[in-house]
Amino acid sequence: MNKKLTLSCLLLFVLSFTFLLQSKSIKNHVVKTTCLQKSLAERIDSVLTIMTLEEKVGQLNQYSSNWTTGPVSPEANKLQDIKDGKVGSMLNVKGAEKTRAIQKIALQSRMKIPLLFGLDVIHGYKTTFPIPLAEACSWDLAAMELTARIAATEAAAAGVHWTFAPMVDIARDPRWGRVMEGAGEDTYLGCAIAKARVKGFQGGQLGKTDAVMACAKHFAAYGAAIGGRDYNSVDMSERTLFEVYLPPFKAAVDAGAATFMNSFNDVNGVPATGNPHLQRDILKGKWGFNGFVVSDWGSIVEMQTHGFAKSLKESAFIAINAGNDMDMESRAYTKNLATLVTEGKVSITVVDEAVKRILLKKFELGLFDDPYKFCNEKRETQAFQNPQHRIIAKEMAQKSIVLLKNQNSILPLNKQQKVALIGPLAKSKIDMLGFWNVEWDDNSDVVSQYEGLELKIGKNNLLYAKGCEVNDSSEIGFAEAITIAKQADVVLLSMGETRDISGEARSRANIHFPGVQEKLIKAIVATGKPVVMLINAGRPLVFNWAADHVSAILYTWWLGSEAGNAIADVLYGDYNPSAKLTMSFPQSEGQIPVYYNHFNTGRPQLNSHEQYASGYKDASSLPKFPFGFGLSYTSFEYSDLKLSSNTMKADGKIDVSFTLKNSGKIKGEEVVQLYLKDEVASLVRPIKELKGFEKVMLQAGESKEIKFTIDKEKLSFFNNKLEWLAESGKFQLMIGASSDDLKLKSSFELID
Ligand code: GLC
Repeated sequence: MNKKLTLSCLLLFVLSFTFLLQSKSIKNHVVKTTCLQKSLAERIDSVLTIMTLEEKVGQLNQYSSNWTTGPVSPEANKLQDIKDGKVGSMLNVKGAEKTRAIQKIALQSRMKIPLLFGLDVIHGYKTTFPIPLAEACSWDLAAMELTARIAATEAAAAGVHWTFAPMVDIARDPRWGRVMEGAGEDTYLGCAIAKARVKGFQGGQLGKTDAVMACAKHFAAYGAAIGGRDYNSVDMSERTLFEVYLPPFKAAVDAGAATFMNSFNDVNGVPATGNPHLQRDILKGKWGFNGFVVSDWGSIVEMQTHGFAKSLKESAFIAINAGNDMDMESRAYTKNLATLVTEGKVSITVVDEAVKRILLKKFELGLFDDPYKFCNEKRETQAFQNPQHRIIAKEMAQKSIVLLKNQNSILPLNKQQKVALIGPLAKSKIDMLGFWNVEWDDNSDVVSQYEGLELKIGKNNLLYAKGCEVNDSSEIGFAEAITIAKQADVVLLSMGETRDISGEARSRANIHFPGVQEKLIKAIVATGKPVVMLINAGRPLVFNWAADHVSAILYTWWLGSEAGNAIADVLYGDYNPSAKLTMSFPQSEGQIPVYYNHFNTGRPQLNSHEQYASGYKDASSLPKFPFGFGLSYTSFEYSDLKLSSNTMKADGKIDVSFTLKNSGKIKGEEVVQLYLKDEVASLVRPIKELKGFEKVMLQAGESKEIKFTIDKEKLSFFNNKLEWLAESGKFQLMIGASSDDLKLKSSFELID
């Protein structure tokens, strides 16, 4: 019986497949045979086999809708191209209705291959969360995964299959406006956050209607742009590339990231988009990445501007051979790839490999089975109206606020105090959303700082004046601000950047408060009233005078939809701030790059009057606020450090434990940090490196034993042969409340 069944199935399969081939127009391109469930590879091959060269090239072509996030390229007849099967993906299309409409056009093409819809869902879709750099300061991986999960749920309901996130670029230079999109300066933390965000966006598996494809970007080393100038060159040793900048991308691959986006910059003279070493040797080769790589906006055509290609055609030739699978908005592929193949300059195998990678994701998403599964107006409305999303947005915002100063414990405030809220960002809604928010016509649901305070304390004890604009020379508003300051018990000064001062193409050589804000701060401090600063920005700013003269500082970044409520909760102690910086804050632009895990040099600057030391004669080389720093309304004590051994073999481990106590009067969370230093090695090693952390909630008076495990992985580095290994010798172990507040120290030895 079985034999007959199999034979008849086989016959059915052959007959149906033959029919399909002859019929040309594909009703349901992939035959789900009743008996044999074809593997994904077979399904992909069955589609590829019947595609024309032009249709294959079409899959590698991505257009933006007219809502653009890059230089607007010459208009194409995009909808006709879609109908002609010349487009594989669209970006910047929002909403179930619109994505459905455009998908319908794609299904009029001969092959009826569904489009992928991509969008920059960087920190929320309809519900906006704090910018990624703010979220990173929460050090709460579960919370970051959750906000990505919610963003994916909302986006996927609205027809988005693919977010161009997480951005995992390590960044040590706050002049670069895109630091706001990442996780900061540390590789170890950056890897953990990359993994959390990929898992959050993609959920348990691709194809579920609450998950979207992640896109690790920008591959690679975009954050090391010389001078902090966006799109600028990157020049570094292969070793630094492997040790500092690539690991978060590898973490994204290991977390199953479906796609990568390469970067605008050249790396050691080769534009990333046309860089086979990055894309083929490392990503697709060494790391075994099976997803696909999309260029950044126009980065293929820009290889001509780089002086790396003579023509658009040569740019296409270089990019496809280098492993760039999809062309975002440069039209290099759609205009040249078919010709390059017919001229024998590009192998059809190379094109097929790129097409297969893209088709694989379309199959995994389930789009061949149901091209409209993601654009569901009902689910879209439900997702947008889910009250839980706002609750989580507020919680994430609370966790992202960094308490940088709290002189005489002026915070938390009490509701009997009369408060003067002053500053150009105090009533702003749009600026709470930050750069790379998904833009909507109506932002009335964003809670401004003024609204948050009004909800918290009512109008009677709340005075307000704008004082000045964010970036303007007028001081006309000062008088009113000074007047209400004098009437108040405490002044809240909401200063910083508008949402478009940090972000892409927003590099700044001067990272002080723009305009006359610093003058206003001085005028308000001069009233003698205690001043609490709320600093809204997408990057570390330089604000030394304010830092030295105001009573308290909350770094409130851009906190998203629930900004005002979260800030009010922290101001009045309904949430005890727990965030810690993931980027060093410089004292001056002149010392940039400043980061904690630097090498010691032969003449370290131990204090400012060292004559022959690695420092400045006219400024400090220390950060104003260091990596890992953040205060709490309570206090914590560290004690009783124990190591299971002071020696360790390469295949062994050392158990580390210590006691953390909440020695204050209220419950609070502490981010404890484990740092290691390899004392002597075949290459100089950083003065310390983060190799573990834990965020711990403790009730007042509560103690808890905290444990870490040291293994070879934590001791390893890339040697000058790019071998990842640990060298025997002595290591210093430090437990810190920040990178420069080391509470407990010990040492151990790795022995052969
Ligand atoms: C931009 C950005 C990239 C973004 C893409 C699409 O130029 O560099 O991060 O995902 O274009 O908007």
